Amino acid sequence: MKQFNSIMDVIERRRSIRSYKPQEVKEADLNYVLQAFRKAPSAKNLQPWKLVLVKDKKKINDLSIACNNQTFLIEAPLLIVACASENEAYGVMGGYMNSYPIDVGIAMDHLMLAATERGLGTCWIGSFKEKLVKDLLDIPEGIRVVALTPLGFPAEEGEIKSRKPLSKIICYDKYIE
Ligand SMILES: Cc1cc2nc3c(=O)[nH]c(=O)nc-3n(C[C@H](O)[C@H](O)[C@H](O)COP(=O)(O)O)c2cc1C
Repeated sequence: MKQFNSIMDVIERRRSIRSYKPQEVKEADLNYVLQAFRKAPSAKNLQPWKLVLVKDKKKINDLSIACNNQTFLIEAPLLIVACASENEAYGVMGGYMNSYPIDVGIAMDHLMLAATERGLGTCWIGSFKEKLVKDLLDIPEGIRVVALTPLGFPAEEGEIKSRKPLSKIICYDKYIE
């Protein structure tokens, strides 16, 4: 397995993986990535999240349809569905915003980076029909589905996507368009 020297190495190696080997994820690796999720920060440390780990092939198949027919999801041995409780989260971040998408977003990124470090692939899935996902997994009212990701050994390198240069995304002392 590739050894990483720094967090930046891992960040640069992570890519959205859309093709998977059928090989199971080892329990120790699964535990490692779940611990990375668990240790993430959240608003007021409320940790308003829960992960549904889906191994059942029929359910993964049905979920791939609920994710607007993203059929590559079927290849992965495990699908992780990241949920959040709106009521348990901090409701007025910045005076107006519920924290749950950010809380779960940070924790999922922890999970994805830890997966990369262990040679595992992930892909943030934000295109899904929430009602269908909730029905398939018996997710109760008040709980929102934030994202899904497959977890498994990559069967592709993943495409290297460009990013805006720093000069385009920072400014000093005031907001400059
Ligand atoms: C909020 C969000 C939603 C996304 N939804 C999907 C999705 O439904 N399906 C998919 O294949 N990739 C999805 N992606 C992955 C992005 O396309 C990908 O992160 C982006 O193109 C950059 O590529 P990289 O992840 O390989 O660096 C999503 C990413 C984010 C952050």
